[in-house]
Amino acid sequence: MPLVNVIRGDRIDAAPINVRTPFIRIPLWLALTWWAVKALGRLTVVLLQFWYVTGPAVFFGWLYLRWGWAGPAGFLAAVGALSAGWGFGHRPSWLRFAWWPALARYRRWLYRRNWQAAMVTARLAVSFDHHTVLPVLRKVRCASGVDVVAVRMVTGQIPDDFAKVAERLAHTFGVRQVKAVPGPRPDVVLLHLFRGDPLAKLVHPLPVPAVPEFTALPVGRQEDGDGYGLRLFGTQVLVVGATGSGKGSVIWSVVRSLAAGTTTGLVQLWGLDPKGGMELGIGAPMFARFACRDYGAMCELIEDAAALAKNRARNLHGRTRQHTPTPDEPLIVLVIDELANLTAYLTDRQLKDRIKAALSILLSQGRAVGVHVVAAIQDPRKEVLPFRDLFPTRIGLRLAEAAQVDLVLGEGMRDRGALCDRIPQSLPGVGFVVIDGDPTPMRVRFSYLSDDEIRELAQTYGRLRVIDGEVLDGVA
Ligand SMILES: Nc1ncnc2c1ncn2[C@@H]1O[C@H](COP(=O)(O)OP(=O)(O)OP(=O)(O)O)[C@@H](O)[C@H]1O
Ligand SMILES: [Mg+2]
Repeated sequence: MPLVNVIRGDRIDAAPINVRTPFIRIPLWLALTWWAVKALGRLTVVLLQFWYVTGPAVFFGWLYLRWGWAGPAGFLAAVGALSAGWGFGHRPSWLRFAWWPALARYRRWLYRRNWQAAMVTARLAVSFDHHTVLPVLRKVRCASGVDVVAVRMVTGQIPDDFAKVAERLAHTFGVRQVKAVPGPRPDVVLLHLFRGDPLAKLVHPLPVPAVPEFTALPVGRQEDGDGYGLRLFGTQVLVVGATGSGKGSVIWSVVRSLAAGTTTGLVQLWGLDPKGGMELGIGAPMFARFACRDYGAMCELIEDAAALAKNRARNLHGRTRQHTPTPDEPLIVLVIDELANLTAYLTDRQLKDRIKAALSILLSQGRAVGVHVVAAIQDPRKEVLPFRDLFPTRIGLRLAEAAQVDLVLGEGMRDRGALCDRIPQSLPGVGFVVIDGDPTPMRVRFSYLSDDEIRELAQTYGRLRVIDGEVLDGVA
């Protein structure tokens, strides 16, 4: 039997099979209605998508229609007055819920405008199979002086790819510095874009805590404007910086934060100042033991500390992994200004070897048993710094060359934002703190104690001293 088929209105006999769409006639009014509904749907989607523009526009339009110009103007005045009242009444909540979110929205729009150009010129756009894939700009969060931009990386990228071009990004977005930090998810990197500089102003001496918090000693201010707490428990601290970079202020900030502990006997400071007492001399009464001229005495001091560390380690063996300071077994902090004088420049070879041996023991065994070292050094060359890796906490102040940064702070730290060579001479006391195991350096300004403030500290908290082997009573 022949097949009969109707295609587009024509009758075709014996067509093998109908493969075309059937022709359906619909009335014009139905087509027009359908198009109108579709267009309306799309418009609604667009209106909802850009609600932050359309919403206010509709609202202001309604105000205008209802009350004329007085409507929108009155509304804006009321919002301004309310916001000002809130801002003056309770600033933290106003910043948190009103100002920072509004600013973040504006900044996100700014970053989006040249996002593509920025990614392409920084070579962060990936071309693959005739496609160009860009990292995706996600959320923007604003805080005082810093914008935190969450970026979803292209598959195959790592946060270090962003860290390497941080300087380029900083110039592109017109900010002071960009720091790339791994985000909460493996595919997200957080770009910290620093605008103002909360560290431009001098940090005055901070209040002395009655009981020192050994995991967060208040020593200065960090770059988001908050106070910075330096960890002493379980670590050794190395401070490196060119001459005049403010190594003294790091030392005195630490000493000040521990001062109350020295009076209660929870902390004992031992001072070594091979430069003849230039740095630590005026505050010598702060130190339970102090040596500044006699290298033999300095060596003995380090050897005593090393022996103490070994002893404590033996006693604590199997009992605990972290010593807790008590007046009987206080936290010992050896403060050494200009370490190179002891480990490199010393001409007496035998003494130098003894110092080096004791220092190695002290640095490796002391940190778990409450015998700590805070040492400053000016010369960052490797031969002067054989102990670098024994200091889990390293602080880089101003340095002369870019190449010195990784030498002092560790591989890749300059790329991750520790721009010690860019710290201007006008900002002494500013530096980057690097802690082993933490990939991001923290920019910090240490508090500055003038000579008078150091003397005052020593008068308030200083007690009985042994200086270069001689016992001195009272305050010097
Ligand atoms: N935290 C600080 N804030 C402001 N100014 C500071 C700070 N630290 C140091 N200064 C200023 O810089 C000068 C030099 O500081 P400091 O003596 O601490 O440097 P240094 O690194 O110990 O140098 P040197 O290696 O020559 O001993 C100080 O006299 C002071 O004027
Ligand atoms: Mg000094």
